[in-house]
Amino acid sequence: MSVWVVLAAAGRGERLGQVADSTAGLSPAVRPNQDRPKAFAQLRGRPLLAESLERLEASTWIDSIVVVAPPDWEEPVILLAEELGCGKVVTSIGGGETRAASVRIGVGEVPDEAAAILVHDAARPLVSDAVVERLIGALNEGWDGAVPGLTPSDTIKRVHDQGVVETLPRAELRAVQTPQAFVAPVLRAAVAEVDEATDCSALVEARGGRVTVVEGDVRLLKVTTADDLALVESWLGGSEPT
Ligand code: CTP
Ligand code: MG
Repeated sequence: MSVWVVLAAAGRGERLGQVADSTAGLSPAVRPNQDRPKAFAQLRGRPLLAESLERLEASTWIDSIVVVAPPDWEEPVILLAEELGCGKVVTSIGGGETRAASVRIGVGEVPDEAAAILVHDAARPLVSDAVVERLIGALNEGWDGAVPGLTPSDTIKRVHDQGVVETLPRAELRAVQTPQAFVAPVLRAAVAEVDEATDCSALVEARGGRVTVVEGDVRLLKVTTADDLALVESWLGGSEPT
């Protein structure tokens, strides 16, 4: 089974670029970068994108990678992949205005022979092989798609006009992450037909696809703000590479 990854890295990172008061005390290495997209924000002295590229390259489950790059950053992505020795990166293509548009562009670069496609956010640098293994395992069991998810630790309430409408049953809720894995033709059909959604799974669900949730990983945190970047950096052991 040939497994391809579409690595969505085309976002601007506007929230990362916002200088929050909480970042004032951080080291320059983790301060927001306003001159570059989020994929090239510095994590331990190298682009954020390097972390997920290296991890996906090392995964025995993954054969090839398409990077959806920030417009005008297609070439730096290829140079970075070469520098890291990521031979699985076959294409770097400029993304679209929204994440869904970028994913559609990336999926268009995946050849017909691919059996499965994983869509991953470059903004989640700490992708682990254990999660990838659980996702591929679910596809092998016959699911159309599989997503990593975590049961929220807080009680979640639905609110309307400032009033609580209901308390949702926590055991039935999952906060969903990426990578999200799909049988290739299922994802192709979903991205071709459904216009906007917050994640790929929603596109597949909307067409009646069967998607399961496998155990996620707290370290799959999505880097949104400078505080998130500092947290990921601390998990990796501080601001300097060892
Ligand atoms: N993404 C993308 N193309 C877009 C927008 C987002 O490929 N037009 C990717 C981002 O690069 C990121 C993932 O989708 O890896 C999740 O998006 P998000 O965390 O919102 O990143 P940004 O859009 O870059 O950040 P912001 O919303 O703060 O600008
Ligand atoms: Mg965004």
